[in-house]
Amino acid sequence: MKFATIGHLLDENTLRQLPASWIQHDFIISPELDVYGTKGHLSGILITAKAMMTQPRSAVRQKILDAALFLQNEYAVDVVQLGALTTSVTNGGKWLTDQHQYNGYVNHGDSYTAAVTCQTVRKVLSMVHRDPADLTLAIVGAYGIIGEAVSKLIVPQFSHSILIGRDQSKFDKLEKSLTGNFETTVKLVTQNADVVVTATSHPTALLGSEHLKKNAIVVDVSQPVNLAIDVCRARPDVCRVDGGLVDFPVPIPIPGMPPGKNFACIAEVIMQALKEEKQHHVGSIELDHLHLTEAWGIEYGFLLNELTNFGTPIFQ
Ligand SMILES: NC(=O)c1ccc[n+]([C@@H]2O[C@H](COP(=O)([O-])OP(=O)(O)OC[C@H]3O[C@@H](n4cnc5c(N)ncnc54)[C@H](OP(=O)(O)O)[C@@H]3O)[C@@H](O)[C@H]2O)c1
Repeated sequence: MKFATIGHLLDENTLRQLPASWIQHDFIISPELDVYGTKGHLSGILITAKAMMTQPRSAVRQKILDAALFLQNEYAVDVVQLGALTTSVTNGGKWLTDQHQYNGYVNHGDSYTAAVTCQTVRKVLSMVHRDPADLTLAIVGAYGIIGEAVSKLIVPQFSHSILIGRDQSKFDKLEKSLTGNFETTVKLVTQNADVVVTATSHPTALLGSEHLKKNAIVVDVSQPVNLAIDVCRARPDVCRVDGGLVDFPVPIPIPGMPPGKNFACIAEVIMQALKEEKQHHVGSIELDHLHLTEAWGIEYGFLLNELTNFGTPIFQ
């Protein structure tokens, strides 16, 4: 199977980081990649995260569909991965699977990202010798696709969890599926949390210094990031960890990506293509599939290893 990612510009600067030869017919498309014999492309649409979330939803969705059709018709792509906020604006990818002109498979890549996020939380706590049973967790974006799966997997391990969203009515489904000691809120009340996981569709940084407890650990999965580098500089006590990054032994030319690393979501679609798995993975994450992606990650060596903050190793 041939794979492609569909991303977008994170901000106005992203375009400058891309080689000019990657821009074709209003789309971003990389040269063909070869990962262990499976071929594919990185691709994207030319709009920023802010525009993704503020332009009319129908117009943004049309751009994503146009990109999927371009990849299908011009590059014979079989499976597309919805990168960054393209999942958020397509109802978790379900909208794209309903478009009859697109015949391929759709994967949001969030299953392996959620798995790696949980691994990251466990790993950073073991590095600092802290037991989650003694700690308070906050998940920002808790009923989103990644947030929901991460909540199911790690809330039971913490002393207390604060699950944060924007719409109280959207917590119903999550509350029914969770065990453990937790509260839900639409207020950004992370200031008492020892560990904060961000997985939001907010298109810019969200957490300021005032939102963070002394020595807080923040696993920032969001792209664009929810905890900016200037807050990290102002708060050296805070440990920000890049969420959703894995080792990737095959060079992959993602602008801004630390060498040898890749997003877990991109690794997931590449693993799907390597496995020739002809299925959609959209909407809520099936935990069995999440665990399968972890097994694939072990098989291909796309693993969480060193923890980084904006690409710099944290524990040397
Ligand atoms: N690092 C990686 O490898 C990787 C991989 C995949 C995705 N991501 C990133 O992970 C994030 C989440 O992705 P997803 O697919 O799970 O998206 P999603 O399903 O759209 O979930 C995002 C959630 O964030 C909530 N939200 C938005 N703004 C918020 C705010 N100000 N306060 C609290 N909650 C807020 C949304 O609430 P409403 O539903 O009420 O709007 C939504 O439920 C995105 O930033 C994406 O780019 C990273």
